[in-house]
Amino acid sequence: MIPRELIDAIRDRADLVEIVGQTLSLTRKGNSYVGLCPFHNEKTPSFNVVPSKGIYHCFGCGEGGDVFQWLMQTQGMGFNEAVKDLGQRVGVTIEERQLTDEERGRIKVRTDLYEICDLASQHFQAVLRTRPEGEPARRYLTQRGISEDIWERYHLGYAPPAWSDLVDTLRGQGVDAALAVKAGLARSNGDRSYDLFRGRVTIPIQDARGRIVAFGGRHLEDLPGRKDGDPAPKYVNSPETPIYQKSHTLYALSHARPAIQRKHRAIIVEGYFDVLSLHQAGFTEAVATCGTALTTEHLSVLRKLTRSVVALFDSDSAGVRAALKSLDMFVAAGVEARRLDLGDDKDPDEFIQKRGAEAFERALQTTETLFDTALREYRQQFGTTPEGSRQVLHQLAPTMRRVEGAARSAMVERISKALQIGDNVVREYIGLSARSRLPSAPAPTPIRFRGTRELNHLLWLLLHHSQQVAGLVAQVDPLLITNRLDVARVIARLLAGDDLGAILQGVDDPDLAQVLRACAVEKRTVRDGKAEVLYTADRAGDAARQMLARLQLRQVEGEISALQAEVESCGFGADGSRYRDALVKKSSLVAHRQDLLRIITRKPNH
Ligand code: UTP
Ligand code: MN
Repeated sequence: MIPRELIDAIRDRADLVEIVGQTLSLTRKGNSYVGLCPFHNEKTPSFNVVPSKGIYHCFGCGEGGDVFQWLMQTQGMGFNEAVKDLGQRVGVTIEERQLTDEERGRIKVRTDLYEICDLASQHFQAVLRTRPEGEPARRYLTQRGISEDIWERYHLGYAPPAWSDLVDTLRGQGVDAALAVKAGLARSNGDRSYDLFRGRVTIPIQDARGRIVAFGGRHLEDLPGRKDGDPAPKYVNSPETPIYQKSHTLYALSHARPAIQRKHRAIIVEGYFDVLSLHQAGFTEAVATCGTALTTEHLSVLRKLTRSVVALFDSDSAGVRAALKSLDMFVAAGVEARRLDLGDDKDPDEFIQKRGAEAFERALQTTETLFDTALREYRQQFGTTPEGSRQVLHQLAPTMRRVEGAARSAMVERISKALQIGDNVVREYIGLSARSRLPSAPAPTPIRFRGTRELNHLLWLLLHHSQQVAGLVAQVDPLLITNRLDVARVIARLLAGDDLGAILQGVDDPDLAQVLRACAVEKRTVRDGKAEVLYTADRAGDAARQMLARLQLRQVEGEISALQAEVESCGFGADGSRYRDALVKKSSLVAHRQDLLRIITRKPNH
């Protein structure tokens, strides 16, 4: 672990403009620099670097971060690697414990394995593109409608149907067969080694940083010379190795990352060819598991990029059961899942080939949340009698107990509407039954954070006119400004004068990080009569008062209606003290609301 202070010091000293400028041409524009975004295709620049805030951000695709993230995203470095690399450049030395021989050995093995996978991929690619023995694969891919552009970008290749084509090639390059075995590319049979992939289209699997770590191999349907009744599995996959863990790896994630961030959704499918076909059709937000079931680890990789995933489930009853079974895994990961149902079409690849991209987009638009699927299924199963409704509640209560805040409210609302019972009944039910099974920490909210106009404006003021507004904001309890704990924490750190880069390091929700970066980059103007003029510091105070009042008003109104419901549920006489308490609290909030309304309707005095 590198101490936080060192990380902050290095970030502080690094010259972001210079470092970004090494790979990208930037033009100065006021306090920031703009250029063509390297993460998505564009013709007019929407990529911004703001040196004073130490961040870069693209308004087109939402990609962004600090200097470390820049190195991670463009140079394929890991976080520690980026910190060390930059530390060296800016003259901050990181005390390093001497590695033990064993640790050094492990690092060496990993480096070797990456290199071998890369060599193997180059060989397979050369066979596919230029060798005569690649002809069946060329025909196969063309017939499947996979364009050469995709072969190239996804490094597709071909392993010819021979026993030791790869092993021999690697040996010629000085790689010992034992290492090829260790990389999962060959097997040994006594003193002989033979290739794992034979007569297969090779699909390299890259890790999140784009390094090739494994392969999937697709058997060719019409491979000449194969004897009848000689069953070959459709796919052969690399085994796990020190650089490849299936439960953590999502196929094509490194290609999909910008699109996932831009579209605020990921599509999870089953097959490599589904991903290739979807990417080719423009759905670059698609990823696949690598021949395994979806795991919690996969979801924790994805949730750093988005809180919303579309997952494919079969439309038969087994598919629905699988969807219901996975609901709690999604909920626990803080990810909202929607269910994609392609009806009779076997998989997304076939769907796209047959019906086209527009039809697929329409199918995406009609997905329902897994929670709704569950609700519908249980209603069907238990019926609409009061006892049936109770059963449905009983089934879904554990799921609802896993979340809180806005996500729970949304679920409560759905269920109370569907069962036509009051939402307080639903809430009470969740609260009452089986408290002992409450998870220790509720899942983070899976609902996409967008901020409101008022909140974003206030964050902008804190970022750009801190001197004028910090005193005002500090007087208000952050939880009266927002009911999201993570946002309240950000506000507190901005008030404490922390650097945005350091604050972003602690922000876990990708959408919140995106909003913060956008606020930091954005240049706001105000209307002055007919003209748009730049926001000047003297307007900031009034604006902050307005935003604070409007944000608090929303919270206060929520609390007032909650208290009103409480008053009504008490009834007369039943619970006198609870009733009185609620009334007293409510009337003080009503007075507070009057104050806020006065601020909001007051004309600004300029
Ligand atoms: P499918 O059998 O649905 O194949 O397996 P597919 O992806 O549609 O393949 P094509 O379109 O016929 O080429 C889905 C996924 O399950 C894994 C692979 O990851 C595959 O992409 N799988 C399947 C295996 O690992 N081994 C197999 O033998 C079959
Ligand atoms: Mn298929």
